[in-house]
Amino acid sequence: MDTHKVTINPAFLQEIKDDDVQLLTLLQQVREMCDSVAQSDIPARRFASVLAELRDRLAMHFALEEAYGYFDDPVTVAPHLSEQAESLRKQHGKLYEEMVLLAETAQNISRSNSDPRGVGNLARGFINFHGRLLDHEEGENELILDAYSIDIGGRG
Ligand SMILES: [Fe+2]
Repeated sequence: MDTHKVTINPAFLQEIKDDDVQLLTLLQQVREMCDSVAQSDIPARRFASVLAELRDRLAMHFALEEAYGYFDDPVTVAPHLSEQAESLRKQHGKLYEEMVLLAETAQNISRSNSDPRGVGNLARGFINFHGRLLDHEEGENELILDAYSIDIGGRG
């Protein structure tokens, strides 16, 4: 039986989030761009370059979280916390794949200049992705609070 459970270090995870101001700023910028009235007016090249930057920053963010925020604990983790932690950690891979695809699509659009609707579709795709990323972040924030309260109230 595998007795190692996934858990988090709430202080480290919080710190990674607080320190990543550039990621938050960039996310906000892209979101505002996509929310603007005429999405298809977004310059394709600029869109491709901000999405590529976002992809790289997100990769770094997830890597830091997984290296310092999450860890495997052999014994003492509360089961509900461990389930949550495992499910949230798994979301990183999926979210990153989606981000890669968005950046790739933007790159293709900026190269081909073909379908003007492409940028609009991509903007909607990003808004959708952003919503799920925010849900993920909210889940981790709740997990941080949960882990702190378990520490205060004793294990379990
Ligand atoms: Fe995360």
